[in-house]
Amino acid sequence: MTETESRCRESAQKLLDFIQESPDSFHTVKNVSDMLKKQGFVQLQESMEWKLERGGSYYVTRSGSSLIAFTIPRQPFSGFQMICSHTDSPSFKIKEIPELEGSGYVRLNVEKYGGVFLGSWFDRPLSAAGRLLLRTPEGISSVLVNIDRDLLIIPSLAVHLNREANDGYKYQVQKDLCPLYAQSPGKRTFLALAAEEAQVKEEDLLGADLYLYNRQKGTFTGAEEEFISSPRLDDLQCLFASLLGFLRAKNQKSVKMFCAFDNEEVGSRSRQGAASTFLPYTLERICGSFGGGREKLMAALASSFIVSADNAHAVHPAYPEKSDAQNRPRMNGGIVIKYNANQKYTTDGRSAAVFKLLCERAGVPWQTYVNHSDVAGGSTLGNILNAQVSPYTVDIGLAQLAMHSPYETAGAKDGWYLEQAAEKFYSSSLAVDENETLVLE
Ligand code: CO
Repeated sequence: MTETESRCRESAQKLLDFIQESPDSFHTVKNVSDMLKKQGFVQLQESMEWKLERGGSYYVTRSGSSLIAFTIPRQPFSGFQMICSHTDSPSFKIKEIPELEGSGYVRLNVEKYGGVFLGSWFDRPLSAAGRLLLRTPEGISSVLVNIDRDLLIIPSLAVHLNREANDGYKYQVQKDLCPLYAQSPGKRTFLALAAEEAQVKEEDLLGADLYLYNRQKGTFTGAEEEFISSPRLDDLQCLFASLLGFLRAKNQKSVKMFCAFDNEEVGSRSRQGAASTFLPYTLERICGSFGGGREKLMAALASSFIVSADNAHAVHPAYPEKSDAQNRPRMNGGIVIKYNANQKYTTDGRSAAVFKLLCERAGVPWQTYVNHSDVAGGSTLGNILNAQVSPYTVDIGLAQLAMHSPYETAGAKDGWYLEQAAEKFYSSSLAVDENETLVLE
């Protein structure tokens, strides 16, 4: 194994471990927070006045499921450089009164969250994770919970009873996708079990945000173990790689920012999503802390750069006709720069040029993605962010198969490539000169 290969392997293993510990967006934010704290980052509260210092490193969370971390240079800063990804993945949210009894069984009543690939959720061990809200003497507190065992399964209907199953079958979430929980009558309600797992009293429960997740661990696949297969690669692969690059880089000219938003899978329009006030308010407060008003913020934003990082579709060997003839990424082919004439992706010639140069300087490969002109593609958070704050922006991602399945497949090398490019991005200073030229130092 060459040195690069062993670094890639190590980086991919770290990602699989991180995903294993991060079954939902609340746990993802908690685990990112822990990594930041270890590196000396100070947590800020949105509800308190901020007193930021030059040379300081900070992070702030919103709703427990979105997070923005940033470091302030020692000298007056010119702009912001951020990589934005998302914490959420398609899944099922457990409804308020979860038990469904019938035919001698208890199933859990669930609602679809995001663009779930329904057929892939059947016949595999599942569990539930998220947070519980509790009554306390002081008021209300929240606690994270992960029922860490193979608790649930969504059994498919036997093929003998559904002869059309292999000819394409239309699933109904309410009928087909409710997981089997217990034999009726269950000894413990689902919430009692969740409370027990969190070591709190069931009678103190006032609320819950719990989601199903796939219990199957991430693993290396392929003859040379060149692939990784895991839950939630979209978008924890980009999130984790950009975080590692962020933590390693030094920058004395721009405020470097790591942003991870919840609710991308449902359109980002929420209190904590990319379309919310979270990013613009944070930027305003950073400027305000150093005596800069709105004028300073506008000038800084015009001299800033956003990388919107969300996974991309690799060409599928069984469906090459679904991809563009030329701009068809391969797993392990490097970081994917995404283009869309209709602006679902923010990339233009200029922002692509900046990113290509960064990859060149980081010594990592890049490739391009454009939709097949007759196949609608996906969307992401870049253009939604641009409607809030509008620096130059590029959309990128890592090539993967089976996007939105509970078990996705990606290249084992690509995360390391993004780590390298992210470190280079955060260490470089981007500035806009009077001719609107982006200067990269
Ligand atoms: Co995504």
